Amino acid sequence: MEQVPGWRKITNVVHLAGSKMYCQLWHAGRLTSGKPGGPQPNYEPSAIPARGRSLCFNFLPSTSEFGTRKEILDPSAIVTQFKHAAKNANTRSGRFSDKWGGSSENRARFGLEVLKSLVEVFGSNVSLKISPGGGFHDMGMPLQETIDTFSYFISEADKLRLSYITLFRYIPRLDPIIDESRKERGTSHELLSTYAKLTTNAKIFIVGGVTPEEAEMLVRTNQVHGVFFETSWLTHPDLAKRIRHGKSINNMLAVPHLYGDVDVDPRIGYTDYSAVTY
Ligand SMILES: Cc1cc2nc3c(=O)[nH]c(=O)nc-3n(C[C@H](O)[C@H](O)[C@H](O)COP(=O)(O)O)c2cc1C
Repeated sequence: MEQVPGWRKITNVVHLAGSKMYCQLWHAGRLTSGKPGGPQPNYEPSAIPARGRSLCFNFLPSTSEFGTRKEILDPSAIVTQFKHAAKNANTRSGRFSDKWGGSSENRARFGLEVLKSLVEVFGSNVSLKISPGGGFHDMGMPLQETIDTFSYFISEADKLRLSYITLFRYIPRLDPIIDESRKERGTSHELLSTYAKLTTNAKIFIVGGVTPEEAEMLVRTNQVHGVFFETSWLTHPDLAKRIRHGKSINNMLAVPHLYGDVDVDPRIGYTDYSAVTY
């Protein structure tokens, strides 16, 4: 609970500047890493470990070393926890055969229930970020199944009058080969032409390797309401100025240092990227 007054100091300043702040609520599910033998189990949809984490984040131990895995028998308990978190602020991974799994409608149920409970608290100030292409963290489905599932989810989510939906594009570097079949896990497909037409209420944002030139084109041609640059903000302290002045966006993310490393200055690869001379 001490998180709440702490964050309020920050949100107050943002509100004073006339802006809104969205807090990302998420459940790490099968990506949770607990201490081996620790007292708290890692709640996951169906206790199916995610493979390949250490291929993306090389400082993480392999999944087999994580703490006790425990299936979530009734996901509605997690929906209640999400709602509680919302009040404070003011999915091949599951084998459910009941109302939480199987068909697109059932698979979408958990996300939609969470969104509905958040809308009860925040009205239309709720947004959604999804990665239909998967790949990251051992996620992926065949193309038609992917399109069917996400089309249903997005169409239903849009009926809830969310403020915006962010489509996270497939990124090859986040999809290491982990299958014996030597195939990628993700299903790269064009997100805007597939899903944007399904929304009439929510604004559409895109993220994932967007360049300033592409962003300008996507907004100018009304394909999106906006874009997000994420890694580029981390690797360029002067990103906005660089874009304004047409300077190159060429610093590379120092992945091995991303979340700190034993005995290594935590600023390395996090806040030590260089600005350009103007
Ligand atoms: C260090 C780091 C932390 C991230 N943390 C989150 C996160 O907590 N939630 C999330 O939705 N995305 C997170 N992302 C993903 C980014 O928000 C973004 O979707 C992704 O990096 C693709 O956009 P980009 O190519 O502009 O970086 C993170 C990315 C990085 C590099």
